[in-house]
Amino acid sequence: MPLRKYQSTYFTLSMSSFSFSRHLFQKCIDQEMELNGAQNNGINGNFMYGNSVHHVSVRTQVSVNPAKLKSLRQRWNVRPSEMSKKTLNPIRAIVDGMKLTPNPEKPMIALSIGDPTVFGNMPTDDTVLQAVKEAIDSHKYNGYAPSVGYQKSREAVANFYSCPEAPLEDKDVILTSGCSQAIELAINVLCNPGDNILVPRPGFSLYKTLAVSMGIQVKHYNLLPEKSWEIDLQHLESLIDDKTACLIVNNPSNPCGSVFSREHQHKILSVASRNCIPILADEIYGDMLQVSRGEFCARHYRPRSQDSHELDQ
Ligand SMILES: Cc1ncc(COP(=O)(O)O)c(C=O)c1O
Repeated sequence: MPLRKYQSTYFTLSMSSFSFSRHLFQKCIDQEMELNGAQNNGINGNFMYGNSVHHVSVRTQVSVNPAKLKSLRQRWNVRPSEMSKKTLNPIRAIVDGMKLTPNPEKPMIALSIGDPTVFGNMPTDDTVLQAVKEAIDSHKYNGYAPSVGYQKSREAVANFYSCPEAPLEDKDVILTSGCSQAIELAINVLCNPGDNILVPRPGFSLYKTLAVSMGIQVKHYNLLPEKSWEIDLQHLESLIDDKTACLIVNNPSNPCGSVFSREHQHKILSVASRNCIPILADEIYGDMLQVSRGEFCARHYRPRSQDSHELDQ
C-alpha cells in the first residue's frame, strides 16, 4: 500500500525568495502528519527557515497507511540507547567520585592522571608551539579539515614511520582525535558484535569500555609481574578461538610502565602470526622513551614468512 503519492501532490507556496526543496517539503508534511495524526489532506502554517518565518500553504493528496498511524508517537519517550547503557568508564567512576582532603603538612603528588604535561614534567616543545601559532595566525586552517586529516600531515607521519620492509604512504595514515578515537576506529574496523578481543591485564581500561559498548567480548591475558610485566604467552594463546578478532598489545604499558624487550616482541608476533590474529598496537608512549626507537618500535618487525611463522627484524 503506497504511503504517499507525491506525483499527484499539488501545493502552493507563499514565500519570499525561498526555494523550498522537495526534501524539506516532505519533512514538513511528515511533521504535520505526526502532530495531527495524519488526518489532513493539506498543510497550512508557518515554518522557520534560517532566521525568517515563511508561510506555507500546501494541499496534498496523501494516502496514509493505517497501520503506521497506530505507531505514531503520542508523547515524548526519549530513552538512553542500549549502547550507552553498556558504556562504563571505570577510571571516571573512581576518579570523579574521589574526595580527598590533602594533608596540609605534605606536598601532594597526583598519581591518578597520566598526563605529565599538566604537572610541568614534559613541556610541549617550542617547535610545536611555534608551528601551532603560525597555523592559527595564517588563517589557512580555520575551515573543515578532511576527516582523515590534512594530506601534508598524513605524509609527514607516513614518512616518519615508514621503513623499507613496510613502506607507508599518506593514504595509509588516518589522523584521529587522540589515541582514544584511533582505538575506537580500529576496534570498529576489525570486530563485529559477538567477536572477542584479547586485552592485557592489568591494562588500560578504555579497551574494555569501547568493546563492551559495541557488543564485543573482552578476554584478558595476564601480564607477569615477576617477569617485568611481560605477557604470559601461553595464557594468551590459550584464549584464542575462531571469534578472536584482534590482539591489543600496549607497549610501553599503562599502567605497568614496562617496555618489552625485542625478543619478547618477537614472541608476541609469533603467537599472532601463527594464529593469524591482527595486532592492534597501542604505542602511545613510544616516543617518550629514552632508548633508541629501534629497541622498541613494532614497525621494525615483520613476518619472515607465513609458513615458518618466524619473524625478522
Ligand atoms: C595506553 C593508552 N592508550 C590510549 C590512551 C588514550 O589516549 P588519548 O588521551 O590520546 O585519547 C591512553 C591515555 O591515557 C593510554 O594510557
